[in-house]
Amino acid sequence: MNIESLALNNYRNYELLDIELSKGTNILYGNNAQGKTNILESIYMTATTKSHRGSRDRDIIRFEEDEAHIKLLVSKNDISHRIDMHLKKNKNKGVAVDGLPIRKISEIFGLLNIIFFSPEDLSIIKNGPVERRRFMDMELCQLSRLYYSNISNYNKVLNQRNNLLRQIYYNKSLLDTIDVWDDQLILYGTKVIKERENFINMLEEIVVDIHSGLTEGREKLEIKYNKSVNEDEYKDTLLEKRSVDCKYESTQYGPHRDDISFFINGIDVRMFGSQGQQRTAALSLKLAEIELVKKIINDSPILLLDDVMSELDSNRRNALLNRIKDVQTIITCTGYDDFIRERIKIDKIYYIENGKAFLKSGQV
Ligand SMILES: Nc1ncnc2c1ncn2[C@@H]1O[C@H](COP(=O)(O)OP(=O)(O)OP(=O)(O)O)[C@@H](O)[C@H]1O
Ligand SMILES: [Mg+2]
Repeated sequence: MNIESLALNNYRNYELLDIELSKGTNILYGNNAQGKTNILESIYMTATTKSHRGSRDRDIIRFEEDEAHIKLLVSKNDISHRIDMHLKKNKNKGVAVDGLPIRKISEIFGLLNIIFFSPEDLSIIKNGPVERRRFMDMELCQLSRLYYSNISNYNKVLNQRNNLLRQIYYNKSLLDTIDVWDDQLILYGTKVIKERENFINMLEEIVVDIHSGLTEGREKLEIKYNKSVNEDEYKDTLLEKRSVDCKYESTQYGPHRDDISFFINGIDVRMFGSQGQQRTAALSLKLAEIELVKKIINDSPILLLDDVMSELDSNRRNALLNRIKDVQTIITCTGYDDFIRERIKIDKIYYIENGKAFLKSGQV
């Protein structure tokens, strides 16, 4: 799949933007704070309905304006689809696909498959578990609408159960009503755990070879889904830990507490790996994600690289660029001298300045 064009209206610092993108490598370059990441964010938004920065819709709308629009044309199997997204200040966003409004926002998932790669992703191993869960959730939601529905339901039930736990603190008789929430939590939680575990297992099959290649065969990288509760003992665990949950007034066990563990040659990378090892392992993970998505959707996803090239040495940069030859890529950077020096084929270049894009070249 590939994005043919993108138009923005009152989106962050863009009053109006209308650009066409090449199927190959596209570069957006310019000084800081000119609007490069904003373009990638709008694409991510069209794929996932959310900002990768976690911003609220009202903060994305251009200052002093009430609404923002994104219009994106994506080509899949040589058929063009148009996605229109309409952000409003005090209401939910509206989305239309090929001119028809969609009823459920989740219907958008899977239309565009985006892999977003920013310097923060290189810290995914070093960072906290929230980022690692987010990594799984954002990818799985794009791959499976069912997963989106299971994780949304899980989070809803979890919130309700936690509310109840807070009330129980003042009113012990409410304890009898918790079983209903436990059953629902187990129903959705089990599905979430299974899908995540399956995803991590599939990623692991791919990541071993990639990481071995990046480290010239010196390192064997393993990744494991780290569960806080076993599905078979879910009900018993919740019962057993109920008093702990009541004490903390929140649910202590379940997929919202799960994590991913990384091992290099059998040693926990988060605890004992060097900074360089952690970053290389993170790059391997991202490269494996690209391969896995390709395999699952039987098409190539679109890769957004936000300022990530300058963070990689030339070996790692080449490893990344070699993997993305047949993938539409949009790269932001402050300058593209390195690409020219390394003779990387660039198909389109835009110079970004103060919320405007200037086409510099069709092909370099
Ligand atoms: N809601 C908004 N309305 C208008 N302008 C906004 C809004 N939100 C952010 N901006 C502006 O967008 C600019 C930042 O854009 P962006 O993050 O895309 O920059 P960038 O080109 O990626 O910079 P860097 O190279 O530093 O990453 C800032 O100048 C900011 O003030
Ligand atoms: Mg930026």
